[in-house]
Amino acid sequence: MSQFSYQNGVLHAEGVSLSAIAEQYGTPAYVYSKAQLLDNFASYADACRGRDALVCYAMKANSNLAILDLLARQGAGFDIVSGGELLRVIAAGGDPKKVIFSGVGKSVEEMRLALQHDILCFNVESIPELHRLNDVAGSMGRRARVSLRVNPNVDPKTHPYIATGLKASKFGVAFSDALATYRAAAQLPHLDVAGIDCHIGSQLLDDAPLLEALDKLIELIDALGDEGIHLHHLDLGGGIGVDYGDEEDGAPVAVADYLGRVFARVDAWRAERHAGRPIKVIFEPGRSIVGNTGVLLTKVEFIKHGEEKNFCIVDAAMNDMARPALYQAWMDMQPVVQADGGALYDVVGPICESGDWLARDRALAVKEGDLLVMKTAGAYGMTMASNYNTRGRAAELIVDGTQVHVVRQRENPADLFALESVIK
Ligand code: LLP
Repeated sequence: MSQFSYQNGVLHAEGVSLSAIAEQYGTPAYVYSKAQLLDNFASYADACRGRDALVCYAMKANSNLAILDLLARQGAGFDIVSGGELLRVIAAGGDPKKVIFSGVGKSVEEMRLALQHDILCFNVESIPELHRLNDVAGSMGRRARVSLRVNPNVDPKTHPYIATGLKASKFGVAFSDALATYRAAAQLPHLDVAGIDCHIGSQLLDDAPLLEALDKLIELIDALGDEGIHLHHLDLGGGIGVDYGDEEDGAPVAVADYLGRVFARVDAWRAERHAGRPIKVIFEPGRSIVGNTGVLLTKVEFIKHGEEKNFCIVDAAMNDMARPALYQAWMDMQPVVQADGGALYDVVGPICESGDWLARDRALAVKEGDLLVMKTAGAYGMTMASNYNTRGRAAELIVDGTQVHVVRQRENPADLFALESVIK
């Protein structure tokens, strides 16, 4: 059940009306539901209970400290892609020993930081990266645990910008090079070959491509075992989608069903060919943990009737939520106060770009001053926000029952140029 629902015609986050939130905290604002976040995490944690498994939340989806803290307290690990994200995990009280470090371009400084904090594993994506990591670990008198991100060449059937496991992708080591790359890694003195991973793409509605990728990883683990290279974990990445409300797309597979199918395959494989060898299964979900946890609350500034279109100009913009502009993503827009009828509008922001739109051709009954929400905006919303047009980023709030917590203050324009100076 969604924690965002209409009560007496007014949209609420848990027990608080979004009109009251707008009045007190202003707009635009990201409003998250604590209960929804915990429910979403529980769908992974429950399916993993009693198993050798770890859920490493992909914090690029939403890295607010309060979100990280709530998840850390549930036992989550974290999938990071920068030194900055590691510092956030630590600031939020997360355990670095449950951190895996993904990404194609880790710097020497980032590797050093992660080694100092003794993270669980580096997901390595190329031979030069293996060498750099080996050198950095050697210079610190340490060993780095590594997993190779292999590219299983599986079509995730999602938007090309968020498909990552195809042959033409910049990510991962080609499947056909994987064995040779593992052999090279096993020779490096300051690396411990620990696991294997993949991430084939995001916003997957069907888990068939993920299960196909799993089969390919298992094939490699067997082949490596035959050569005496024994892996201790298998990491399937993230990727399960959320229901954005777009009828064309439909709803994604349930997390519990997906994990059930993963564990069934892993159990069958272990019973058949991998008996007696422990293997930890790791997941890196992002969107499916935070997507439907948040909405972007915005106010109508003006209604404008153009020659061909009606525009509903709101105070949120592409700098607050880039997904429509970047991926032509369909995001649901709903009024905070339910209203019937209306006309077709493009919902657009104040930024000076034609690409600054949030939704197109939506039937809305709106007037100046009304409130709207963009639903399912909790993932890749605030983390992709920018200061374009010198717009301060939105406030972030977490609702817990009838309580509202400000977990990030609205940015003040003066802060935006505080690091700048003029030439003397
Ligand atoms: N692991 C790795 C290595 C990843 O690159 C990603 C996402 C994830 C896990 C989490 O995937 P998820 O469970 O969220 O699908 N900005 C885009 C999505 C980019 C995803 C990047 N990688 C969007 O707004 O749709």
